[in-house]
Amino acid sequence: MKRIGIIGSGAIGAAIARLAVAADYDVLIANSRGPKSLVDLVAELGPRAQAGDVQEAVAFSDIPVLAVPLAAYANLPVAALTGRTILSTGNYYPSRDGRIAQLDSLEATTAEYEQTLLPETRIVKAFNNIVAHHIPLLAASEPRTALPIAGDDADAKVAAASMVQDLGFDAVDAGTLAESWTFEPESGAYTAIYASSRNGFSEDYLADQGAPLSADRLRELLAASHRPDVAARQF
Ligand SMILES: NC(=O)c1ccc[n+]([C@@H]2O[C@H](COP(=O)([O-])OP(=O)(O)OC[C@H]3O[C@@H](n4cnc5c(N)ncnc54)[C@H](OP(=O)(O)O)[C@@H]3O)[C@@H](O)[C@H]2O)c1
Repeated sequence: MKRIGIIGSGAIGAAIARLAVAADYDVLIANSRGPKSLVDLVAELGPRAQAGDVQEAVAFSDIPVLAVPLAAYANLPVAALTGRTILSTGNYYPSRDGRIAQLDSLEATTAEYEQTLLPETRIVKAFNNIVAHHIPLLAASEPRTALPIAGDDADAKVAAASMVQDLGFDAVDAGTLAESWTFEPESGAYTAIYASSRNGFSEDYLADQGAPLSADRLRELLAASHRPDVAARQF
């Protein structure tokens, strides 16, 4: 039986949960407010889903999914996560997360920074470069849509890639955590690459229906990506 524990029940956590139940995973989802706040989402997800607390979500699956703002990483149960592979969807938005010197200075990518907050884990970065709105529209698309993944541990990356594949996307190896800037916000391989119309997406992204993006095209975009000026980020 495949299982997935998801921490964060917002736009990304809920989108991944929907993919997971559709892919015959059992899902345990947690948030900051507790299981009672998840009654409606669990009812929508159906009998394969349950709500729990963060500890239960960590314990539920081999690879817990983190779909929380960066500020939450410092409050996660470090002991329970020790030695674990984590799929992290996090991005750095200074307006939400506050200014973080290591990120503004480019000393670290967001994924490297997360790894310093959870040092005894194997972080794999995925699902951070696609808007939640596009996730159900492009899951199991024909042709398949590719997502980049990055990590420093080869086995962890293989395991996370397998989960990404199960959830309906091809996984393209985008290298190490240090190299994951290639698909951070404002880079050349960020959300607009999945738009059916880049202009339409920038005007009203919720109206955009998305367009499949092949693994080969994603590799080209990653190779041509530019490192954003994070210190200048205004959102
Ligand atoms: N939205 C997108 O399109 C998108 C795309 C790519 C990447 N991302 C990134 O993915 C991450 C999640 O984004 P999102 O849009 O899903 O955020 P969101 O809609 O704001 O949801 C955040 C979730 O995190 C939970 N949370 C916050 N602090 C927590 C804690 N200490 N313990 C447990 N749960 C906690 C919240 O709990 P409550 O519900 O109880 O408040 C909420 O369920 C962020 O880093 C974001 O930058 C987002």
